[in-house]
Amino acid sequence: MNRTGIAFFVLGFIFLVAAGTSSAEEFEIPDAPQEYLDMENPIDEDDVDEDFIKKTHRLYKSKCRKCHGTEGDGEGSAAEDIEIKPTALNAPGYLEGREDGQLFWVTMYGVEGTEMEGFGPESDAGLSEEKIWQLISYMRAKFTQ
Ligand code: HEC
Repeated sequence: MNRTGIAFFVLGFIFLVAAGTSSAEEFEIPDAPQEYLDMENPIDEDDVDEDFIKKTHRLYKSKCRKCHGTEGDGEGSAAEDIEIKPTALNAPGYLEGREDGQLFWVTMYGVEGTEMEGFGPESDAGLSEEKIWQLISYMRAKFTQ
């Protein structure tokens, strides 16, 4: 191989390695089991008023904001250091395209292989199912665009 050949070989190799490491960007959250997808948020939309938002904001701020960001854009202070980034929940159509039960399942049990931990009753955070539904109502109210 002459010099140009070697240069192309090296460039090709770098390209392949770079392509291999970009898989984090293509990460897809697994779908919740059907029994979860069939669930509906028990919280009535009419109860999601200013008071509700204020109260739930405190919980969101203490448990979720550092990754998902105040605006749900996935740019919280801790997101910088993690490999698989939290998706922008506030992207147009994102939350509308997700079932309540999907969001519930992820918040209960986390997403394997990512920094998204489970927050349900059996986790370290130990949030009740009711609190998790409140967070989902909060996210829908604040981040749907
Ligand atoms: C340490 C960082 C971190 C924290 C804290 C965190 N998340 Fe996540 N979250 C993630 C990551 C990473 C993902 C998965 C990657 C992605 O979003 O594509 C995720 C995904 C999600 C999703 C998307 C589910 C879907 O199927 O579309 C929801 C909803 C969510 N998190 C809610 C929460 C809630 C509610 C809290 C607080 C109780 C929380 N997260 C706290 C990092 C975090």
